[in-house]
Amino acid sequence: MKLICTESYEESARIAAGIITGAVKAKPDILLGLATGETAEGIYAGVVKAYQAGEVDFSRARTVNLDEYIGCGEPDSYRYFMESHLFRHINIPPENITIADYKADPEEDVSRMRRFFEGNRVDLQLLGLGANGHIGFNEPAEALQALTHIEDLTPSTIEANARLFANAGLVPRRAITMGMGDILRARSVLLVVKGESKRKVLGELLDGKAVSTQNPASLLLLHPDVTVIFQK
Ligand code: F6R
Repeated sequence: MKLICTESYEESARIAAGIITGAVKAKPDILLGLATGETAEGIYAGVVKAYQAGEVDFSRARTVNLDEYIGCGEPDSYRYFMESHLFRHINIPPENITIADYKADPEEDVSRMRRFFEGNRVDLQLLGLGANGHIGFNEPAEALQALTHIEDLTPSTIEANARLFANAGLVPRRAITMGMGDILRARSVLLVVKGESKRKVLGELLDGKAVSTQNPASLLLLHPDVTVIFQK
């Protein structure tokens, strides 16, 4: 595991954006696995800035998103987040974007996403970290799912996400998420950690001694190419 300890979130986001744009330059037909959330916002701002400066071209790149809420439309869907923070600002062809469809039947959409992962391997997977150790929406549990599936969000995740909604009652209770196997099959993984609430689960990962399904991010210790960016 490669560890990058920074002075600030802004520095973390700048470094992460540089890793992503560097990967696109090195492999123009890359498949990027993408995350949403507060951590991703500054990273995408950096990616958009590099695109606007003519440093990187997304015309052959493809993306797939980690997760999407079920039962949630605009402006709260992750599709909307991605359009606002990244897709509409870069030259990625719309047909190169894969994300679970909040308008579709969830079971059918899980099958569609599973078929996608049968035929495609992510080159670089961007992850944020949940305060309970979740990656994507793989919540702590006795057993974790390998494939894309429907996840019931834990009360702590619903509470953590409530800040992004008009009121807690509007936070979706379920989401479609890539499974742990989908994430661990990525050629390389970039985990960016923002915020004090993640100190404990981050500490367990940095400790590096054990994996536990009660801290899904700890399974990244089993992956050969992971970079973790976190603040002091
Ligand atoms: C989002 C996702 C989540 C977030 C995590 C951190 O697509 O999969 O795992 O990355 O909850 O969220 P923020 O960055 O908002 O703290």
